[in-house]
Amino acid sequence: MDGAYLAEWANLLLRWLHVIAAMAWIGTSFYFMALDQSLRPPRDGDPLVRGEQWAVHGGGFYLKRKFWAGPGFLPEKLHWSKWEAYWTWISGFALFVLIYYGQASTYLIDPDVMDLSPWQAIGLSLGLILLAWVVYDLICRSPIGQDGVAMAVAGVAGLALAAWIATSLFSGRGAYLQVGAMIGTLMAANVLMVIIPGQKKMVAAIAAGREVDPRWGAFGKQRSVHNNYMTLPVVFLMLSPHYPMFWQHERAWLLLVAMALAGALVRQFFNLRHRGITAYDFWVLGATVVVLVAVFIAPPRRAETTAAAPAVTFAEVQQIMQARCVECNMPRPTNPAFASPPKGVLLHTPAQIRRQAASWAQQVRTEAMPPNNSTGLTEEERAKLLAWVAAGAKLD
Ligand code: HEM
Repeated sequence: MDGAYLAEWANLLLRWLHVIAAMAWIGTSFYFMALDQSLRPPRDGDPLVRGEQWAVHGGGFYLKRKFWAGPGFLPEKLHWSKWEAYWTWISGFALFVLIYYGQASTYLIDPDVMDLSPWQAIGLSLGLILLAWVVYDLICRSPIGQDGVAMAVAGVAGLALAAWIATSLFSGRGAYLQVGAMIGTLMAANVLMVIIPGQKKMVAAIAAGREVDPRWGAFGKQRSVHNNYMTLPVVFLMLSPHYPMFWQHERAWLLLVAMALAGALVRQFFNLRHRGITAYDFWVLGATVVVLVAVFIAPPRRAETTAAAPAVTFAEVQQIMQARCVECNMPRPTNPAFASPPKGVLLHTPAQIRRQAASWAQQVRTEAMPPNNSTGLTEEERAKLLAWVAAGAKLD
């Protein structure tokens, strides 16, 4: 069987697993964060209980209680939340390897940004992921980590630096996913290296009848709160390959920071709301950042709309498509990187070119296509394609 076809299946199965695991993990993070925020003093005044929440769901009532240092005995069956995180990372990293390392020249490297060899790009990518964890972990253990506001400032500064470095090394799309992989790795490492080990120590102490050190739980809680604020930014980055308007922009790093910040602000709104505080200012601030970004990156109404420009014939458009686009955008692409046309866009017949005009024009306008301009579409050709679409995409 053809290698590109098998890679397509691997892509689908890993993506499916990744999104399912991510949903389970983020769902758990949202659930426990909201639960923690909404705990109220226990009705029976049990001194071991930090707080409790009554809930109605699935046709019944639940009483959930949080014991700071354990309930005083070790329950026979204890549920742990960790495999959602581990599987999100395993499947995400495998997908990252398959797409961005396996086809580094197409997705990770842009010679106009830096002319890296695939192995150099992969080495830099792995090194940055590791470095992000080492630096973040050190900051968390320093006095900055104990101060929520200082940590938020350090987080935004660290993100800006990571985004700037990634966009100075990799293609726009590769840079966004690189930063997403770095944040996702921090989150998974928080679970593996801090939260779960701390909980294991608590369980071991309870089993041995020893006192539980409250710091074990506090360290875990700190990382779990960080993970919660990182969820919306990471999901934006994971979805970003569909939206070249961000990563093709000359200020791609700044847009990344702005959108991530908007996500964290919206999360703050919900976290406060679960505590019973409705602070619309966080929500409004997040929405304002998104609106400002939308205005900032709005494409100029350029040459494509000028009536004075000479009319572009369909024959010219088809000739350009044939030379620059069709090797990928045909039912069975001749470009070995693709087993099927990207996003199902077909440009090999006049009817298809016309029908999908709005869709491919957006890719041409934002310079997302051809990827890294691998087929050498010239500025003049790009302008002609857009002018033809703007003039009504007529088949002459
Ligand atoms: C909290 C952690 C994470 C969440 C919630 C998450 C979520 C997602 C989602 C929703 C998608 C979109 C799928 C689509 O649009 O088709 C995605 C794609 C992806 N994720 Fe993640 N992910 C996480 C962590 C990671 C990590 C740690 C890595 C790599 C180390 C990773 C690598 C990828 C890759 C390579 C893709 C495909 C991107 C593309 O289509 O170009 N993810 N992820």
